[in-house]
Amino acid sequence: MWNTVALCSICKPSPNPASLLLPRRLHVTRAFRRTYVGFSSHQVVQTRAGSTLPSRAARSKAKHSQCAQRYPLLDGHVLSVHQHVFEENLKNSEAVIKRYSELLQVVSKGGGENAISRHTQRNKKLFVRERLKLLLDDEPFLELSPLAGLSMPYGDVPAAGCLTGIGKICGIWCLFIANDATVKGGTIYPIGVKKQLRAQEIAMQNRLVSVYLVDSGGAFLPLQSELFPDKLHGGRIFYNEAIMSAMKIPQVAVVCGSCVAGGAYVPTMVEEAVMVDKIGTLFLAGPPLVKAATGEYVSPEDLGGATLHTRISGCSDHFASSEKEAYECVRNIISTLNYEPVPEELVEHDHPLYSSDELLGLAPRDYACTLPVKLVLSRLLDGSRFQEFKADYGTTLVTGFGHVEGHLVGVVANNGELSHDAALKGSHFVQLCSHRVIPILFFQNTAPHAAHPTSISQAEAQASRLKAQASMMAAVACAAVPKITIVIGGCFGGESYAMCGRSFSPNFLFLWPNARVAFVDSRHLSTIPQAGDSDCTDESELKHLKQKLEEESSAFYSSARLWDDGVILPQNTRKVIAQCLQIIEQQKYQVLSPYQYPVMRT
Ligand code: COA
Repeated sequence: MWNTVALCSICKPSPNPASLLLPRRLHVTRAFRRTYVGFSSHQVVQTRAGSTLPSRAARSKAKHSQCAQRYPLLDGHVLSVHQHVFEENLKNSEAVIKRYSELLQVVSKGGGENAISRHTQRNKKLFVRERLKLLLDDEPFLELSPLAGLSMPYGDVPAAGCLTGIGKICGIWCLFIANDATVKGGTIYPIGVKKQLRAQEIAMQNRLVSVYLVDSGGAFLPLQSELFPDKLHGGRIFYNEAIMSAMKIPQVAVVCGSCVAGGAYVPTMVEEAVMVDKIGTLFLAGPPLVKAATGEYVSPEDLGGATLHTRISGCSDHFASSEKEAYECVRNIISTLNYEPVPEELVEHDHPLYSSDELLGLAPRDYACTLPVKLVLSRLLDGSRFQEFKADYGTTLVTGFGHVEGHLVGVVANNGELSHDAALKGSHFVQLCSHRVIPILFFQNTAPHAAHPTSISQAEAQASRLKAQASMMAAVACAAVPKITIVIGGCFGGESYAMCGRSFSPNFLFLWPNARVAFVDSRHLSTIPQAGDSDCTDESELKHLKQKLEEESSAFYSSARLWDDGVILPQNTRKVIAQCLQIIEQQKYQVLSPYQYPVMRT
């Protein structure tokens, strides 16, 4: 995490006329550039006369882009011998995408039509997706883990009861966490805590301004023991708020509904909070508890409404007479953060030469249906151009450089089992990217099964492969550059760690809907010794276990449990990657003061 930033001398006023051409914004020290992701200067310089010139960074990016046009072209044609596999994958992709659309449809209705009409008509509140429309700029945003919370052991919790994502406000990429009060009054389930903590982690890792739309009845009481006491339970949200503030990540909240008990800390700990009159209420104990303790009835508005908290308690800073006014107020607050929006892309880039729709035929139905990964890369990289590294060594891993919408990236893509040579190559390449400060894209499709050794020499080969994979894991874990992982096929066993799985903290991790995530593939179950007894031939038990494994391996099962940041369509992958790279890049446009403490409401 990059929270130690020092201002360099060029930020100080200088009589040197050349400094007039320098941006007014933060310049970071070299030390910072080394530890951080390497975006060291701005793309655009604002001159005193107000005109914009391409900055050194933009000019060098343009040069990079020209060089990229000389990278070799990938051949993306699908050979006729591969056609039947392509067709099989396509059929599978269409089926899983249909399922994906159905699930999204369910989730888009929150707690259901009745709950929405109660929320909007009786409670006079806006549905959470309407709120986001008023809050965010009128452009597409990146929703995170929309399928989280489906088919949990405690039932369906659509979108885990809160929407999270990253969208622009006044041109600034901001992370949002917005309770959906149509799902059990916006109460927080264990999966909702996990979703909020993941969103905060993304905000910290990518230094994103965070906006909370709070409309929640607090803890979902029947599951309180899974919500309250542990380190990564509800309290961690408040802990993170303080740490984020100390990291100088601005946080803003709107109280646009109930905000009870622990939930009341969320807006009280942010730097600026807005409360909506007659809709927002904030208290540790509500009217029923007051009545029980004192015998006195007090209305929610009198106990903790917008007037009380903006005029008397000081728990909130801005009074809004309507929701619309509250979101306008947040947009104004964001405009006072002294951030510079990421400039619109100055560098023109080429589109891939092959249609992204064909990715549906390249998304493997299972490992046996995997086609050469360069066919995938040829549909994702600018101009289908790729500067390959070690093309003839360890060929079951493809490594090299390319561009996605003008952003230079290192690519690490499975193209078979992660053999000894492939892992050594991966380790070497990841270190190269780290030294050159280039973000890395991992395309994961790991082999489901490492064959059991049948001879001493095979056992020795496996041991040396293990050593090589361990060094790749170390290189990936320590690479101080942004990492984005896309699971395009299998995510199985240990090889998935070396390919920057969730436990290796990529900035973002997305799955294609055909992806399968499990420690072992159900197809290889019969060859794996079972725990406890050596008799694994009980047919019905094996069948049951296989079925369970198959269900638990689906991309939707994974996404429901927040093992990823969401399922994305193969044909949208390039857009999502480009968006993530832009989001990550925003950090260089921040003004950072050397102040090291959180902002406190005293
Ligand atoms: N735990 C579990 N379920 C809860 C809940 C809680 N803390 N708060 C509300 N619910 C459920 C309700 O039982 C209801 O379920 P149903 O749809 O199956 O009937 C659903 O959420 C909606 O609640 P309802 O009261 O009908 O909606 P509302 O919009 O009028 O009010 C609240 C929402 C959150 C303001 C209100 O329910 C409330 O004040 N709840 C208690 C909050 C509380 O004391 N929390 C303490 C947590 S430590």
